[in-house]
Amino acid sequence: MVSLRAGTPADLPDVVAICTLTGDDGADASARYDEPELLAAIWAAPHLLADRSLCTIVVDDEGPAGYLVATADTAAFERWCERMWWPTLRARHPLHAPRRDRDQGLVALIHAPEATPASITGPYPAHLHINLLPRVQGRGLGRSLIERLADQLRERGVAGVHLGVSGTNTPAIGFYEHLGFAPVAVEPDGGLIMGLALP
Ligand SMILES: CC(C)(COP(=O)(O)OP(=O)(O)OC[C@H]1O[C@@H](n2cnc3c(N)ncnc32)[C@H](O)[C@@H]1OP(=O)(O)O)[C@@H](O)C(=O)NCCC(=O)NCCS
Repeated sequence: MVSLRAGTPADLPDVVAICTLTGDDGADASARYDEPELLAAIWAAPHLLADRSLCTIVVDDEGPAGYLVATADTAAFERWCERMWWPTLRARHPLHAPRRDRDQGLVALIHAPEATPASITGPYPAHLHINLLPRVQGRGLGRSLIERLADQLRERGVAGVHLGVSGTNTPAIGFYEHLGFAPVAVEPDGGLIMGLALP
């Protein structure tokens, strides 16, 4: 049986594991990094701590199998990260240390995170990240998670939600388009920012 429940900080280890196991365009990213847990440290963990009421965990008979993490106000979330999240990570992962290029790319993001432009946070103030292990994919859970978030955001009067997706993650892009997201920006590395208005 599969169920959805609100996330708590106690879910962090499972969120890190799920993020790592799906972090390479849906495939296992473990071997690509010396410190693959940095993926979740950037794209999942702070959301769970900053606003757990918008985070949902998918649980099946084997345990946690997926998550959606989100924030209603990306600009406020980025300020929270600057105060509460990045300083500890920066101390733990100095910018200049011997490491593989991919790890260095993640550490560089921790030291100089890019602020999301107002052209995106204006119409789409919220943002989300969603990752499901293969065993629970293709069963309607991704749709359920995003519709649940959309309802929560509408209740809060949030105008729209955006997300970032690798330009090579074709299955995820197709999924988002199917649910009504449309591209709103292309990043220098080919990544897409997609947005969904919440009328
Ligand atoms: C991408 C992901 C979140 C989708 O969730 P999912 O549970 O597998 O998708 P669902 O079963 O809920 O699909 C919902 C709908 O989208 C459709 N859909 C799914 N993938 C699609 C695709 N590539 N193209 C078009 N439609 C697609 C489904 O047919 C379904 O349609 P329906 O509800 O109208 O019948 C999930 O597969 C996943 O976590 N993948 C690995 C991690 C990842 O890549 N995350 C995104 C990082 S940006």
